Amino acid sequence: MTQDSLDLWDSQMRKELREEVRKALADLGDESSLPPVAGPVVELEDLCLKFGDHTVLQGVSLDLQRGETLSVLGGSGAGKSTILRLILGLSLPDSGQVRVEGHDIAHAPLTQVLALRRNMGMVFQEAALFDSLSVYDNVGFYLHEHTGLPEEEIRRRVRESLELVDLEPNQVMDLLPAELSGGMKKRVGIARAVVHRPRILLYDEPTSGLDPITTRTINDLISKLQTELDVSSIVVTHDIRSAFRISNRVALLFEGVLVFVGGPEEMVASEDEYVREFLR
Ligand SMILES: Nc1ncnc2c1ncn2[C@@H]1O[C@H](COP(=O)(O)OP(=O)(O)O)[C@@H](O)[C@H]1O
Ligand SMILES: [Mg+2]
Repeated sequence: MTQDSLDLWDSQMRKELREEVRKALADLGDESSLPPVAGPVVELEDLCLKFGDHTVLQGVSLDLQRGETLSVLGGSGAGKSTILRLILGLSLPDSGQVRVEGHDIAHAPLTQVLALRRNMGMVFQEAALFDSLSVYDNVGFYLHEHTGLPEEEIRRRVRESLELVDLEPNQVMDLLPAELSGGMKKRVGIARAVVHRPRILLYDEPTSGLDPITTRTINDLISKLQTELDVSSIVVTHDIRSAFRISNRVALLFEGVLVFVGGPEEMVASEDEYVREFLR
């Protein structure tokens, strides 16, 4: 096959897969068929994961309580992004459990994984916007891809999400990512993550690469969303100041092992050698 026909085949496959996902979601009904449950929103239990003979996570147990913001701190390569991928059901652990709203996402059938993901919003590192799509299409992506909502309803929800992250819809909707400042990109990434009104928000390094003032405005935004949208959030970051500012609890991951979980004050007071080292 030529490259062109391979590309065509690939895009056809993807289109069919998308159709399948869309149908599966439509079958679930407009509102999620998986109602919230009592107990922790996310529960990680004794997670272990290796890539080859490199241990990435070792015996990680952690829970996210409803309404709280939990930061997972750690240096580069500590396994922070991997934890988010496991919660989304994008990676599978070698052993241990990942429960999202009481359901084991690692061993659930695809339709249930999709239903669980529908209650989650992910803010990717570096915002990860689609370069060739306008702000409108970036923010509306989930609704266009996974719902059959009419365009005017999508437009209404995109505008609402942009307003929620303090962007003026008329000024930004038609811009391309390259025309945005770093802080605006992060805001658009957050608007995209909340457009389907998830109950759980996952942030991967939301303030990395930002100057101190912009970092502060993004932290204020994360705090604002926690109250206004009534979400439970996990923020993965290496930025201690930000974590302390926005979190109810913080966890510290060191080479795949959780060495601390507790309130910010407790962390400051901790005598643990890894904690002391990280705070330095
Ligand atoms: N798909 C993969 N294949 C092999 N190694 C990976 C893969 N994803 C992550 N890793 C490794 O797992 C470790 C943790 O990665 P990651 O969770 O991205 O760390 P962090 O987000 O804390 O910087 C790193 O050593 C990384 O190289
Ligand atoms: Mg990472």
